[in-house]
Formats: sequence, C-alpha cells, structure tokens
Amino acid sequence: MLESLHGVQSPCSPPLPHPHGPAKTVDPDAAEEFIRQFHAEEESAGPVRPRLREVMLEISQTGTYTHTPDELTFGARVAWRNSSRCIGRLYWRSMRVRDRRRIRTAEGVAVECVNHLREACTDGRIRPTITVFAPEAPGAPAPRIWNEQLIRYAGYGRADGSVMGDPRYADFTEMVRYLGWRGGEGTPFDVLPLVISDGTGRPLLSEVPGDAVVEVPLVHPSYPWFAELGLRWHAVPAISNMCLEIGGVCYPAAPFNGWYMGTEIGARNLADPDRYNLLETVAGRLGLETTRERTLWRDHALVELNVAVLHSFEAAGVTISDHHTESRRFLTHVAREEKAGRVCPAEWSWIVPPMSSAATPVFHRYYDEAELSPAFVHHPDAIERALGRHPVD
Ligand code: ARG
Repeated sequence: MLESLHGVQSPCSPPLPHPHGPAKTVDPDAAEEFIRQFHAEEESAGPVRPRLREVMLEISQTGTYTHTPDELTFGARVAWRNSSRCIGRLYWRSMRVRDRRRIRTAEGVAVECVNHLREACTDGRIRPTITVFAPEAPGAPAPRIWNEQLIRYAGYGRADGSVMGDPRYADFTEMVRYLGWRGGEGTPFDVLPLVISDGTGRPLLSEVPGDAVVEVPLVHPSYPWFAELGLRWHAVPAISNMCLEIGGVCYPAAPFNGWYMGTEIGARNLADPDRYNLLETVAGRLGLETTRERTLWRDHALVELNVAVLHSFEAAGVTISDHHTESRRFLTHVAREEKAGRVCPAEWSWIVPPMSSAATPVFHRYYDEAELSPAFVHHPDAIERALGRHPVD
C-alpha cells in the first residue's frame, strides 16, 4: 500500500518542537455535557450515570478519555449538524464515520486519506464521509494534515506576479516545493501533495494517486468551444484542516467530505477575482460586450459557467447539487430541527448562495446564530499552515 505513496522526506530534517505545545487536560464539564447529550438523544445508549463515572475516572487518571465508537459517530454527525455555515446539513445523520483513531503516524494518515477519497466517491456516487485520526492527548500529540482540503490545485507563481493554477494556494505551493515537492505537470490543475505532520519532525509529503482523484472536465451543453477552455474540477470537496471537537476532546486530523453544490465551483472557485478569475474569458468567448457593466456580461458569464459545471458533473455521473435544490433542502432541515426541539444555527452570509441569491428561498429570512458543540473549528495555526504562511524551518 505504501508503494503508491511517493513519500518525500526532505534531507536534513531536524526534529522540530511540536508546534502546538503539550495537549491540555480535557475539561470535565465539556465531557459531561457531551455524554449527557449523547445519552439524551440516543435511546440505545443506555444509562448515563455509569458512563459518566467511567469518563470522569479516566480523565482524572490520564487527562483525557476515549470515546466509544458510538459516541464518536454521534459526535462527528452532530458536529456537522452544528456547522452554521453549511447549507447541506439535511443528511447529517447519514455521514459515514471511519474510525481511524489508532493511526498517528504521518504515513498512516496519508494512506487512510487516500482510502477515504476512494471510498467517499465510488462510480461517481459521493457519500458524506469523515475519517477520524488520533486525538490530541497529554504526552501524545495528534497528527495534522496541513492541506486545506485533501484535493486542491497548485498555484505556480510566475515572474510577472501572476499565478498559473489556483492563486489561493500559491504560497502553499511554494512551501511544498521548498519541502521537496518537484511540482506537478505544470497545468492549471495539478493536484497538490498531502502535507502531514505527526509532531516528530518535518512534515511528510505524499502524492495523492491519480485513481483517488475523480475529476470532471467541463463542457457546456450548448457551446462546443467551452471544452477548449480546458477547465476541470475535482469531484470531492474534503476539508482537512478543521479540528473536530467532541466533549472536550480535540481531533485535529479529521478530514470530512460532502458533495459539491455547483456554485462553489462555478460562482466562486472558477469565478472569484482572486481564484481562477474566468468571467472575462468566458464573456469574451460568448461575444458579450464587456466594456460596460450594464450589459450584465459578468452575470451572463456566471450563468453559463455554472450551467457548464452542473451539466458536466451530471453527464459524468458525479454527484452534485444546484443551489435552488440545496436551498429547499436546507429549509426542510431547519424545519425538522425545530420540530425536534433544537435550534439550527446558521450564518446567513454563508448559507445564501453566491448567485441568484434572492431567487432561492434561504435568502428571505433570518436564522438563529449559536456556537454549539460538538463542532468543527478552525484553529488559527491550521489556517496559516493551509495557506502556506507557516514557517517550516
Ligand atoms: N467551497 C469549498 C470548495 O469549493 C468546499 C467547502 C465544502 N463544500 C461542500 N460541498 N461540502 O472547495
């Protein structure tokens, strides 16, 4: 299995002090709150008191405690349910949880990230999946995945300051090259290697094998020239730098995926001025008049780009949803949560789709805002690492 991973350890790797400091003791109150929540929501969990005693004893003896597989599964699913920026939460109960807590080496994490990708997308069918690696524990640092997502495209800085590929990852790309990556083929869509640290030295670089990266070449149902743009996108969005927090325990390496909503690709990744910035190119090919804003050439180009994304994924048999459908599903989710007597926290500015906003029902209302636990949280140092702003020496 390891042969498929081209691990590159840079020469002269001095042992680095673990950048995150020693893990803190788990807060017993956070543990208790979670255990009570689990037993209140899951009838099959049995009586709460003996489990609470067990957890408290383990915390007093070791500074942390071990979730049962059922607690882990529940905790991960509820962390998704509590993700106030996610419009796709209707299916939170169906998330598949891969318990890989015994894995703490960088090599082991790399292998299981690749397996995650293979299992999360089979024949184009995407299943929401999370892989949970070793947690932070006193005396035993958790592994960390530096990449923002398991699959992302390199951005190669050119001498004139422009970037080929995804400008969001220009600094990250420079960092992995410094760490020993020789670079991909030099296309605008070269998949970056995984960068994984286990707290014992320089991070491991590990190429993601091609068969684990499902991609869709973009074509347009009405414009044959669209294919000539040579655009593509990967099928699986798998966020890999957020920490899963359950009952006071931190799992910094817990990559999770859903499926794409088309606008994430067509109205943001390919369209944002600081990403692939393709609106002018598409508008040019459409023959639109781009000298005056009021021709709405940007809007027109956005629509055709998004038509191409949805059409191409559908034609390739890869799971994707459109923003109208996903908006309706989200309101179903909110209603269901209310019926279950829970608040559904949501951030309007993240929930509302980035195009045709007011044509979707999620636009026309406000939402409760709350930070509930379990949760996926962004740690500032993990954001820095994912954007290549973390010193490696
Ligand atoms: N917007 C991010 C991207 O385009 C992915 C965020 C998660 N999206 C999802 N559908 N689960 O890569």
